[in-house]
Amino acid sequence: MRLMFKQTLALGTLVTTLLAASVAQAVEINIVLGSVGKDVEVLKELIKPWEKETGNTLNVVPMPSSATDQFAQYRLWLAAGNADVDVYQTDVIWAPQLSDQLLDLTDAAKDIVKEHFPSIIESQTVNGKLIALPIFTDAPALYYRKDLLEKHGASVPKTWAELTETAKKIQDAERAAGSKDLWGYVWQGNAYEGLTCNALEWVKSHGGGQVIEADGTISINNDKAAAALEQAKTWVNSISPEGVLSYKEEEARGVWQTGNAVFMRNWPYAYSLGSADESPIKGKFDVAPLPSAGEGTSSAATLGGWNVAVSKYSKNPEAAISLVKFLASAPSQKQRALLSSQLPTVMALYDDEDIKAQQPLIPRWKDVFLQAVPRPSAPTKSKYNEVSSKFWSAVHDTLSGKGSAKENLEVLEAELTDLKGNAW
Ligand code: GLC
Repeated sequence: MRLMFKQTLALGTLVTTLLAASVAQAVEINIVLGSVGKDVEVLKELIKPWEKETGNTLNVVPMPSSATDQFAQYRLWLAAGNADVDVYQTDVIWAPQLSDQLLDLTDAAKDIVKEHFPSIIESQTVNGKLIALPIFTDAPALYYRKDLLEKHGASVPKTWAELTETAKKIQDAERAAGSKDLWGYVWQGNAYEGLTCNALEWVKSHGGGQVIEADGTISINNDKAAAALEQAKTWVNSISPEGVLSYKEEEARGVWQTGNAVFMRNWPYAYSLGSADESPIKGKFDVAPLPSAGEGTSSAATLGGWNVAVSKYSKNPEAAISLVKFLASAPSQKQRALLSSQLPTVMALYDDEDIKAQQPLIPRWKDVFLQAVPRPSAPTKSKYNEVSSKFWSAVHDTLSGKGSAKENLEVLEAELTDLKGNAW
């Protein structure tokens, strides 16, 4: 009797296994992502346990590093109903613009969403549909060279004016002593989404608003915003190379990590890369919040971050959903944090001992990202990309000497008003 029971059980298990194998055929999933630093290598490392457990394989298709170029390509693919791409890595600002072509993950993710910061889940929810799961969040830092500041008796700048002065002083002294390639400050001045992030920080920290406010009001044409842009213009060809007007994240990091900049504005990924054994600046730098404009103003960090979404044209939606859940999970986010100092969206990881010990930036940056300023993608809905492109163009023109900030912001206001029409 007992033996029979055991045999039946064994047979039952075998049948279940066979059935499972025939139902869940191993498939290949294609993911597209723009990458900076080691993003592609990190992803390939992270997904090993998922590939092992499911038998599926992941084909990683790297895209240009510019968020703007990625967005243009993704829109074309989605508009054409491309079935070759299963999973898109998406920027925090894209949710309202791509939501129609992405699967609703609400049900699939209902057990795990509560582990994440609610504001981040909300940012990926459009008309009640959760269209992407977060894999990391982003808030920039002012990277500074501890050794150079100490050598020149300077403290970490708290205002943009202090930064300008300290950068110039150290740059001049170090150049005179033979460091011909040293620059004071590197950042992202190319005409793309990254400039929108930088310029929003200048404007907001001058008390000049958020370009378009949460209620949809166009606020950018004001004196404080103009003063912020005029100040940034003075950096070009002085403490920042003229080439900064074509820098994205990686160009700025290139100058910084070879030891050729006193200050850099960049996202947390640059922290682990700068601290690596082979980095010439290992042990020589630290991070601080970005400066403010002085009394009565406060520092502003633009909220960034990346998510993974499943295309509604995917031929393997189940496997794709299991992948995005896996990438958003606490173990994957922990490994990502340890490998590339990207900020988790899983709340508990800010108290994780391994992360604290190996990537001390992360617990320090929890408040910075929680207070970070969102770009106006929620109020401007499907028009955000056009809004941003008009903003970064006005800023880029100002920085390049094509018109004053005041003139360019006046034109920008008129263009945005046209674009808005009766409502966003
Ligand atoms: C970072 C941010 C992203 C932003 C981009 C701009 O990748 O996470 O949100 O759009 O930089 O370059």
